[in-house]
Amino acid sequence: MAEGYRCSRSVMVLSLVGFLLTLQLYFVASRTNAVSGDSQLRASLAQAEEENMQAPFHRTKRFLQAAKRRQKQPTTMVDEFLDHNSPLHRVFFPDMATAVNPVNGSKYYRPGSIWLDTDANPIQAHGGGILYDEISGTYYWYGEYRDVPKGSATGRDLWTWKNEGIVLAADLENQTHDLYISNVLERPRVIYNEITGKYVMWMHIDTGNYSKAAVGIATGDSPTGPFEYLRSLRPHGRDSRDMTIFKDDDGVAYLIYSSQGNSELHIGTLTDDYLDVQLDMQRILVGQQREAPAVFKYQGTYYMITSACTGWAPNEALAHAAETIMGPWETIGDPCIGGTTMFRLAAFLSQSTFVIPLPGTPGSYVFMADRWNPAQLNDSRYVWLPLTVGDPDGRPFEFDFGFPSWPRVSIYWHQKWRLPLGWRS
Ligand code: DGJ
Repeated sequence: MAEGYRCSRSVMVLSLVGFLLTLQLYFVASRTNAVSGDSQLRASLAQAEEENMQAPFHRTKRFLQAAKRRQKQPTTMVDEFLDHNSPLHRVFFPDMATAVNPVNGSKYYRPGSIWLDTDANPIQAHGGGILYDEISGTYYWYGEYRDVPKGSATGRDLWTWKNEGIVLAADLENQTHDLYISNVLERPRVIYNEITGKYVMWMHIDTGNYSKAAVGIATGDSPTGPFEYLRSLRPHGRDSRDMTIFKDDDGVAYLIYSSQGNSELHIGTLTDDYLDVQLDMQRILVGQQREAPAVFKYQGTYYMITSACTGWAPNEALAHAAETIMGPWETIGDPCIGGTTMFRLAAFLSQSTFVIPLPGTPGSYVFMADRWNPAQLNDSRYVWLPLTVGDPDGRPFEFDFGFPSWPRVSIYWHQKWRLPLGWRS
């Protein structure tokens, strides 16, 4: 944790916190090869007790008065979600009474609930990404630290997280520095470079009004840093806002970023040392206005989940697929399954950030998303849900239309779920 680090309510620049996941043999123990990954996941999900969404539609006096003052009732679920005085808002941002504590509690993810680290502090790692460090056999979760320092935490699997502290601190003095506290740092991603032996972090760097629209690069000798900030740049000379990094099986890494005023996405190859972008670049999803890209690969096909561009407000997620990462990319539809229609159309009131492969269960992933709380960003929540690739019913396609028919990407809503047994085997 950086000494003297502080954070105002209007804070825009964020330091990064890394969470350490140590190997937990618990999951590896019994299952080795018996059932296919997908059926393991389904069996495991079936065990999880499902609960109905409970929305207390009793409106408080304060809420009704506020609505009257605005001379209109909130009309949609998203309106109510965003309205801090709405009772519905509190349904989607439950308080500490329902916080999940991986150390003492059950093993179930509860999307939207406060998630505690091993020191029982709420995890602060928003807009996050995951590094699986093969050297230490450890998962690291890097995200935006949007709170005042509170100490550290300990963790284990993709469930129990240890706070490894600030890995790239805000600059409190130099107003011209990219990391100056009133600037913006979002969506950090860390990958390991086998050639240089460095951990390389890419992130969205911006001014408070999002006019800089650049990417920043930092390096470290270990996953927990400290990372040294190198510089920012506009990749391919273009504006760059929401972004992610994807490292392919062959070690080639790519930067994927929203550009042209968020109207399209660009994909470019990183240099061999991962410290710059090469000249080649492809424009994809042109005119579709997508952001929050989360890329993954299954059986040689590339997939991406994105959101629409509505600031901190949730909107419909879309899945896209491509045979080569540089495209062409095709939009294959809304991946969300379960919950109510409104809930699905708002991506379960969350926005994509990353997709984590589960090594022992091919075709099964963890979808990582942020449930942003615009009025109090440090109280934003994590929505982690199971994601699978493949026809959910396992039926073959009936017709061949002569163009690629992509497998379905499905993100399943569960109020409560846990990782399948054997996910690391
Ligand atoms: C949506 C982006 O996905 C977030 O990362 C953040 O930049 C907000 N917009 C800011 O409004």
